[in-house]
Amino acid sequence: MNATDGLAVRDLTVHYGPVRALGGVSLDVPPGAVVAVLGGNGAGKSTLLRAISGTLRFQRGGISAGEISFEGERLSGAAPAAVVARGVVQVPEGRRIFSRMTVEENLRAGALGARRGARPRMIPHGAAEARERVLALFPVLAERARQRAGLLSGGEQQMLAIGRALMARPRLLLLDEPTLGLAPLMAARIADTIKEINAQGTSVLLVEQNAALALSLASHAYVLEVGEVALHGPAAGLAESDEVRRRYLGIGAAEVAAGTPGERPALSRWSA
Ligand SMILES: Nc1ncnc2c1ncn2[C@@H]1O[C@H](COP(=O)(O)OP(=O)(O)OP(=O)(O)O)[C@@H](O)[C@H]1O
Ligand SMILES: [Mg+2]
Repeated sequence: MNATDGLAVRDLTVHYGPVRALGGVSLDVPPGAVVAVLGGNGAGKSTLLRAISGTLRFQRGGISAGEISFEGERLSGAAPAAVVARGVVQVPEGRRIFSRMTVEENLRAGALGARRGARPRMIPHGAAEARERVLALFPVLAERARQRAGLLSGGEQQMLAIGRALMARPRLLLLDEPTLGLAPLMAARIADTIKEINAQGTSVLLVEQNAALALSLASHAYVLEVGEVALHGPAAGLAESDEVRRRYLGIGAAEVAAGTPGERPALSRWSA
């Protein structure tokens, strides 16, 4: 990949005080791609997204080595608002919508700070189109525009969190476990939306506990283990890897060893 394209993370090491959360992580998100990051609890997935979005500082963390660049410009060290202005927007773990504000107010908050050079506190040019795009993706947000966001269901709150991020018109969307805690049907709807957002030209870096879902959406995937990249490659190849199947797709070692296609029932879950 050309170093001026997309997102490039190089040899990234992150500490929270004495705790090393990432050690020498390198990763690429080419323009227009969906790239997945898998890994168990505490592997460093959220830390990676926080390092990219500039929000590590709110967790008393910091980059101790390595570089992050987007479209050829250095991102590491930039303040969160500057990262958003460059077109990289994060939907944090746990949604973090403003629950006392209305749905509409949440969306408007997402539009603030969107454009490079926009006057502070002005709704930037293009916000109306962004709003239309969001409401077309999530019609339920139009129906509930005047309702307090805290009253939405978990799935609707996730839609609002994604919608709010889209109001900033990102070129790269960072999603931290968007289907966590959602029923399978709602998780599938969120997955469809991610596909649609990507088809409209936004690249996506997707952190997911649901490995089957993530591998069905992504072209490439990375597996983090204790802060390091243990495996990476094309998503289809990783879905076939015995280690990924055993550890992240819930397929037992005996079944992996047996290995004939007819004995791989879990595969049908993401071919649907
Ligand atoms: N604010 C913090 N202060 C100190 N250590 C932290 C902080 N946040 C995370 N860590 C540590 O950094 C490591 C990586 O955590 P991180 O939250 O990035 O993992 P994760 O892969 O997102 O896990 P999960 O799947 O549980 O969300 C863990 O060892 C965690 O305990
Ligand atoms: Mg996390």
